[in-house]
Formats: sequence, C-alpha cells, structure tokens
Amino acid sequence: MNIVILAAGMGKRMRSRLPKVLQPLANKPMLEHVIEKARLLGDQNRLIVVVGHGAEAVKAYFKDDKDLTFALQAEQLGTGHALLQALPFCDKNEPTLVLLGDVPLICPETLRKLVEASGDAMGLLTVKLDNPTGYGRIVREAGKVCSIVEEKDATEEQRSIKEVNTGIMVLPTRYLDKWLSELGNQNAQGEYYLTDVIARAVKEGVTVNTALALTPEEVEGVNNKVQLANLERAFQKANALRLMNEGVTVVDPSRIDVRGELICGQDVTIDVGCIFSGRVVLGGGVRIGAYCVLKDVEIGAGTEVLPFCHFDGAEVGRDARLGPYSRLRPGTTLADNTHIGNFVEIKKSVVGLGSKVNHLSYIGDTDMGARVNIGAGTITCNYDGVNKFRTTIMDDAFIGSDTQLVAPVTVGKGATLGAGTTLTKNAPDGELTIARARQMTIKGWKRPVKKL
Ligand code: UD1
Ligand code: CA
Repeated sequence: MNIVILAAGMGKRMRSRLPKVLQPLANKPMLEHVIEKARLLGDQNRLIVVVGHGAEAVKAYFKDDKDLTFALQAEQLGTGHALLQALPFCDKNEPTLVLLGDVPLICPETLRKLVEASGDAMGLLTVKLDNPTGYGRIVREAGKVCSIVEEKDATEEQRSIKEVNTGIMVLPTRYLDKWLSELGNQNAQGEYYLTDVIARAVKEGVTVNTALALTPEEVEGVNNKVQLANLERAFQKANALRLMNEGVTVVDPSRIDVRGELICGQDVTIDVGCIFSGRVVLGGGVRIGAYCVLKDVEIGAGTEVLPFCHFDGAEVGRDARLGPYSRLRPGTTLADNTHIGNFVEIKKSVVGLGSKVNHLSYIGDTDMGARVNIGAGTITCNYDGVNKFRTTIMDDAFIGSDTQLVAPVTVGKGATLGAGTTLTKNAPDGELTIARARQMTIKGWKRPVKKL
C-alpha cells in the first residue's frame, strides 16, 4: 500500500522555530517515530512524506533515508490539500494509509487492525475520549459513520460526541484524485479538510469501516508543548513497564528516561532520575545509582555505579565500582574490578584490571596497566595547547597524590612517584621517582611584625 505521512504543518501552537514534526520526543523527532512505525508495516510499502513548513530542515534530517519520498506542499492549505500533493507518488491500485506527523506513538498493531478492517473500502481509526476537545468528531447515523465534523465547525450537540477522528485512515486511492480536488474550504478555518472525504465516500456508497485505538496515547496529536510533555511521559512510562516486565528493578517508573536503546541483563537495578540515551547495555546485576546520565555505554555484570555519574562513549568491565560524581568521556575503557571515584574525569584512556583512580583526578589519553593506584589530585597533562600526547602507566605503578604527568611520558612497571611530583621524563621500573622542591627549615626565622 501507499503510506502517506502528513508533516507540512507549521505547528503554530508550539511557538517554536523548529518545525513541529521535528520537535523531539525521547530525543528523536516526532516524525521519525511515525516513520519507524510505518516501516514496521512491511518494506513493500511506499513511504511518502508531505513536507511544507520547514521542508528543507525536515528533508535534511532524513537525507540518508532512501526509502522516503518527499512531496512538497508549498502552502499549507489543509490536510486534504496535503494529501493531494502526495497523490502523484501513490500507486493508484493500492490503498493509501494516511498517518500524521504529529501523532508519534501510534502502534503498528493498531494500524494492522485498521488496514484489516478497511477491507477494500475505507477505514477510519477512531478513539473515544472523555475530553474530545480539539479533535474532529465522528458523526454516525444508525451506527454508521456519515461524516467528520471539526471542532471549530461543530454544533453544540456535535461537540458532545466522544468518538473522535484520530486523523489516521485508509483510503481507496483510485477515488482520491476526484475527491480531493473537489474539496471545498468553506469552513471555520478556510482549509481543505481531508476529513470531508468521509461524507463524500458515504455519498458515493463506499462503506466507511472503523477500528478503535487501543489507548488514547497512541493516537494523541501533539499541537503544543504541554501535549508533547504528556506524550513524553506516556512513552517513558511504557518503556519503564517494558523494562520491569523483563525483570529490571526500576525504583520509580515515573522517574526514568530512556531516549534510545537500553538493554539489561538479569537483576539490574536502576534508581530514580537516570537518563539513558544512544545505546546502553547493562550486564547482569548492575546497579545504577540515582541521577546518572548514561549515553552509549556498556557496563559489565556486577558493576555498581553510585549516584550522579555522567558517562558518554565508555566501556566498563565487570565488578567495577564507579562514582559518585564520576565522568567518563568518549574512548574510555575500564577493565574489570576498577574503581573510579568522585570528581574523576577520564577521556580516551584504558584503565587496566583492578586499577583505582579514586579522587579528584584527570586521566586523558592514557594507557594504564593493571593494579595501578592513582593518588588524589593526579593530572595527566596531555595537551600543550596545540597537540595531544599520551601517557603510559605500567602495571603495579603507584602514583602519589597531587602529581602531574607531563605527556608524552611513561611510568614503569611497579614504579612509585612521590606525592607532588611533576613528571617530565620517564620514571624507571620499580624505583621511587620524585620531583619536587626539597623541604627545608629556616631556623630562628621571625614573622614580620606590623610597623607602627
Ligand atoms: C486533524 C484532523 C482532526 C483530527 C486531528 C487528530 C483535519 C481537518 N482535522 O486536526 O479531525 O481529530 O487531526 O490529531 O484533518 N498538515 C499538513 N498540511 C496542512 C495541514 C496539516 O501537512 O496544510 C499536517 C500537520 O503537519 C500535522 C497533520 O497534518 O502533522 C495534522 O494537522 P493539524 O493542523 O495538527 O490538524 P488538527 O487540527 O490536529
Ligand atoms: Ca494535530
């Protein structure tokens, strides 16, 4: 079939420069959610996206999606006019499923049900809402759909109808040329309403079958930031339910945000306020403390992350202990049993088996062996203002507190650096190296006294 996604509207009520369909839900444009759902209906379908307001931005965002055809609606004259612009790209012998770019949570299951219900006539997806404000109402006679009336054009009596138009429908494409080009715009909004094709179809004796949406959220349209936030919560709640059903302990399902893919092993616990984005993989028994932000990370089984950590682009082994307040930046690999403590930042570095960086340190561009201990306040000076250099710290080294390692530099196997060392040359294996001013005491020195 043809799947046409209407996405040309400006979304005035968003009060934003970003086109409405690019407004993000869980970090991804609403339109992308719709496209992904459409793809799940099978790859033999034609996907046509009607763009208009912000068309260049929308097309640029999806430039790598070769399965999409864009139809331009230069002027946004209404949903019926929008569909007419897509028609030249549709196969006349196949039905057309219309989706809306601002209805992001639609379930493929529901769409399949609708397509089935429509047979080779028409299908309309409706939903019953306690508060139908803002939606087109489904007008029935003797139980049969006879028209849709928009809220702004409805009579007092019609407004009390609780069954509303989701905007999602299946249409017989061969009639559309005629039906759409004959639409009028004599209505409250002066627009060519797609919804008017329903009355037209009924007049021509085409049956309008309906299917009911499973939940109100899946067909909720987003016209403003309040609705966007509501749907974000609904989406996140559904994520949390899925995780819990898979056995994850989500301490509070209303305080977790998954803005990508979160894959969990058995007996994972996630405390409140955590945000996951990109692809995050947590091994069995991993515990994530409160208020952690994790993006594109993989964490091995048994590792514990204490509260307030920020990880991006890192790989962590098993049974490690990280945080509180640790920051891992892209290119970081921590081996099993490592300990990373508070106010430690690690970038583009490898930390070997069982090594510890427990307090207030910056480790960048470093290759660290196993069982290394990094004292508090250690800094790898990896940058001379122009170039970056690497630091190598070999197995069993012990770095005293408040040490600067001026890269490129190597600390040998089992070497010890005295506290306060500024290391500018390699430190040999197994020896104590120390570089700091010698301590002295000035005997009989007197403090200055205030002159009168
Ligand atoms: C529309 C329906 C209404 C339904 C509601 C469900 C019409 C006339 N009304 O109302 O019955 O209850 O959706 O959410 O169809 N668009 C274009 N070009 C245009 C106008 C809109 O592409 O000229 C796109 C928008 O980008 C949006 C979608 O169509 O994705 C719906 O448009 P919107 O203006 O939000 O329609 P509603 O007033 O919500
Ligand atoms: Ca809408």
